Amino acid sequence: MTPKTFKIKSFGCQMNVYDGERMSELLAAEGMSAAADSEDADLVVLNTCHIREKAAEKAYSDIGRLQREDGSKPLIALAGCVAQAEGTEAKRRSPMIDLVVGPQAYHRLPEMIAEAARGGRPVDTDMPALSKFDLLPARRRANPSAYLTVQEGCDKFCTYCVVPYTRGAEVSRPWEDVTAEAQALVDGGAREIVLLGQNVNAWSDGQRGLAELIRALATIDGLERIRYTTSHPADMTDALIAAHGEVEKLMPYLHLPVQSGSDCILKAMNRSHTTDTYLRLLEQMRSARPDIALSGDFIVGFPGETEADFEATLQIVDAVRYAAAYSFKYSARPGTPAAVMEDQIPRDVMEDRLRRLHERINAHQLAFNRSKVGVDTQILIERAGRRDGQMIGKSPWLQSVHVDTAARPGEILDVTLVSAGPQSMAGAVIERIAA
Ligand code: 5AD
Ligand code: SF4
Repeated sequence: MTPKTFKIKSFGCQMNVYDGERMSELLAAEGMSAAADSEDADLVVLNTCHIREKAAEKAYSDIGRLQREDGSKPLIALAGCVAQAEGTEAKRRSPMIDLVVGPQAYHRLPEMIAEAARGGRPVDTDMPALSKFDLLPARRRANPSAYLTVQEGCDKFCTYCVVPYTRGAEVSRPWEDVTAEAQALVDGGAREIVLLGQNVNAWSDGQRGLAELIRALATIDGLERIRYTTSHPADMTDALIAAHGEVEKLMPYLHLPVQSGSDCILKAMNRSHTTDTYLRLLEQMRSARPDIALSGDFIVGFPGETEADFEATLQIVDAVRYAAAYSFKYSARPGTPAAVMEDQIPRDVMEDRLRRLHERINAHQLAFNRSKVGVDTQILIERAGRRDGQMIGKSPWLQSVHVDTAARPGEILDVTLVSAGPQSMAGAVIERIAA
């Protein structure tokens, strides 16, 4: 039976969220309608993440849960990075999967669904450079803060990471495609655009880099805020740093993962920076934009990590005073060089280090939030809060700010930040400035 309703479940990074939106637009253009949850859907697309073992295993446990009480099941599409990494093997692992579609093949979903509905079990994990973007329908509606993928893939080959294998080599979307999509998002209601890429700051069209692209996007009327994520220290150019000091619409927030505070571990990870070059980069960043909020990613328990290496990680957290940071237990990924390194770290040691790192990061996050109490700023309203009359918006520093207001999503409000918690702020409205 040809499916009439669908549910897309995205896991992992923002790039999957973006892909999920594009798939949803594609299926809607084919005449299908979105179901509220998987129970009511004829087709369920699991848009999966392969970055750590736990995320990858989640895909298979979720598939099991799609079996219904009467023995029936929806058509199941495995998408995302698990689909790319496992291909045909995924179908063998779970007979419930009807089709397997890798991140570069989403434009082929309608024909693959039709084939699966006829009883076939198609797999497409080809990586034609960028054709999916050309073949997906144009954007119409957008969230106040909208994602826009400008770059995919990674050439850095950090020794722990599957991304160069699942998402392939670094590819940038053409200038005209990106600017046209940005305009369409703004026409569809976006006030903020978050440029996405596994190595977004490696974006280039051969002549121009991300800094030039950001400057061009900043000329779009109605677009008020620009962000980008995730960046690699090696691609943090002087031009991009300068843009932070000069482009008003570019928000004072930078997610720049360091992964470890130990030079020895950074070398084993094949990161191209040392703690020293990383810290110097951040100094440059702070002189261009003194109020910049810094964020990062950390891995604890990389093979060979000693207690001294780990303490160096705590030290770099203190040195940078991150406004936010994400930390993960090292997860050995099949096919990556680190998976076969000696001296893998026992689970309990990793757990203890992760807990200590969390505590340290949380303390800095709270300190950062407290440093903003009393500050007048603007927030972009994104959604309703839990209490009646309460809305949640984002500060320039990406803090979630709760305010009592009748303003709707997409409005930008002047607020005073009145109190700080570890995860969010409370604000009081000063006056309404824009609709
Ligand atoms: N194990 C643990 N964390 C990982 N990351 C990437 N690969 C692994 C892995 N094998 C983390 C890195 C990266 C973030 C997206 O996920 O910190 O920046
Ligand atoms: Fe993975 Fe390193 Fe590339 Fe980031 S830079 S996607 S961690 S290989």
